[in-house]
Amino acid sequence: YRMYDMIMKKRNGAEHTADEIRFIVEGFTKGEIPDYQMSAWLMCVYYKGMTHDETCALTHAMAESGDQLSLAAIHGVKVDKHSTGGVGDKTTFIVAPILASLGVPVAKMSGRGLGHTGGTIDKLEAIPGFCVSIPETEFIEHVNSMKLALVGQTGDLAPADKKIYALRDVTATVDSLPLIASSIMSKKLAAGADAIVLDVKCGSGAFMKNETDAKALAQIMVDIGKSAGRTCYGVITDMNEPLGCKVGNALEVIEAVQVLSMKDVKPYLTYDTSGDTDVQSRCDAYSAIENIAQQGYGADRTDKADCAGMENCAGYDRHGIHRLLTVSLTLAAYMYMAAGKSDDFEAAKAQCEKAIESGAALAKFKEFVEAQGGDGTYIDDVNKFRLAANCVPIVCEEDGYLAACNTSEVGMVNLILGGGRATKDSTINLGVGLDIRKHLGDAVRKGDVLAYMYIDDMGVFEEAKKRLLGAYTVEQRQIKPEKLVKDIVV
Ligand code: URA
Repeated sequence: YRMYDMIMKKRNGAEHTADEIRFIVEGFTKGEIPDYQMSAWLMCVYYKGMTHDETCALTHAMAESGDQLSLAAIHGVKVDKHSTGGVGDKTTFIVAPILASLGVPVAKMSGRGLGHTGGTIDKLEAIPGFCVSIPETEFIEHVNSMKLALVGQTGDLAPADKKIYALRDVTATVDSLPLIASSIMSKKLAAGADAIVLDVKCGSGAFMKNETDAKALAQIMVDIGKSAGRTCYGVITDMNEPLGCKVGNALEVIEAVQVLSMKDVKPYLTYDTSGDTDVQSRCDAYSAIENIAQQGYGADRTDKADCAGMENCAGYDRHGIHRLLTVSLTLAAYMYMAAGKSDDFEAAKAQCEKAIESGAALAKFKEFVEAQGGDGTYIDDVNKFRLAANCVPIVCEEDGYLAACNTSEVGMVNLILGGGRATKDSTINLGVGLDIRKHLGDAVRKGDVLAYMYIDDMGVFEEAKKRLLGAYTVEQRQIKPEKLVKDIVV
C-alpha cells in the first residue's frame, strides 16, 4: 500500500479494507507515515465518515498497537465503565465500590483531566499516598481478592490512539464520531474487561452537544464492543450543568464519600427534575429532602464553613445530589446487568441502593483506597482533605430563574483556579474548586449563593468569578430542566 492512495481513496468516499486500515495505523505508529499525510487522511475521515466495518477495524488496529491486558486470570465477568467526559463527574467513585461490594469484579482503567473535563486519576491523587500506577500483577491480584482495582492508562496501552489523538487535537479533527468512538473503544478493548458500560454525556459540558449525536456515538461504541465479543450498554446522560454539587479534585472525592455514606437514598431519588413535574411538587420534594438532610446528610466542610448566605440556599444542593445519585445508580445497575447478575433494571438498581445504605460500598471504597496505598482515614473523615485556603461565596446578581449553564465554562473556572492542567506538564492544585448551590430551574434572588469558590491564589479571583457568573443565564421564566437519563443504547 501507499499512503497517497489511501488518502485519495478516502477523499473519494470509498471504503477501506481492514488491511488498509491496519497499514495506516501501524505505519503512523511506527513513524513511517508522516504527520502531514496522516492529517490529510484524518480530515478525509472527518468529512467522509466511516462505515461500521471501517470503524471496527480502526478500533482493533489501535487496540492492538501496544500492550493488551489479559484479565483471564480473574474469575467472573469483569466490568468496566467509561464516561465520555464531563464536569463534576465523580460517578466512578460511587459505582465501582457498589459493584465490588456486590461481588462483581471491577477492573477500571482511568484517565487524567482533558481540557475542561476532570480526570478520575487526578482526583484520586487527592488522597495522600494513593498510587495510580500499580503493576499489572498487583492490579489483577486486587481485582481477584477484593473485586476492585483502578490504574491510570499506561504509556503503552493503545499507543496508536495516543499519537493519533495528539494529531487530531491540533488539526481540528477531534469531533468526528468514528474517530471518537474508535479512540475510546480501543482503550477499553485493550484494558480487557468482558463488559463495558458507557456513560455518554450530552449537553453544554460534553463533546456531544445534542441528543442525536450522543445517541449515534453511543450506538457506534456499543456496536464496536459487541463485535469484539464484549457486553455493552450505552447510557445517555445529561451534562447541561455539572453533575452533583462539587467540581474540583479533592472536592469530588469528598462528595462521592458523602453519597456512599447515605443511610437512606430514597428521598434523593423520588423526585423528578425531568421537567414534567410542576413547580409546586418540586418545592414539596425539596422540603421533604431538606427534612431528611437535617437528620444526617451534609457533614461536609462547606456546611461548617463560615460563609455568609448559607441559609438562603438550604435545600437546593439536594437537587445536585439527586442528579449525581440517579446517574450513579443507573450506571451501577447497568454494570450489574452487564455482569450477568440480573436482567431486570429495577431489581439491579435496588441491589445497588442497598449496597450504599448498608455501608458496604463505603467500606469497599476504603478497602480499595488502602490497598492502593492511600490513607483510609481520609475516607472516615473527609474533613482531613486539604482544601484551598479561602472559601468565597459567589452570589447571584439578579432575580429570576437559572435557565442555562455553559458547563464547559464551569470546568474552565476550575482550571483557572489551578484545578486542571493548562499544559500537559502543569501540576494541579487538588484543593481548589466549586461547590455549586443552584441548579437549572431553581429560582434565584440577588444575593443568593450560587456557589462557594475554593481558591488559593486570590490573584485569579476576579477572572474566575466573572467567568462563573457568566456561565449561568438567568431568565424571568422558569425552564424545565432536561431529562437526566435520556436513553439507553444496547
Ligand atoms: N476521549 C477519548 O479518549 N478520545 C476521544 O477521541 C474523545 C474523548
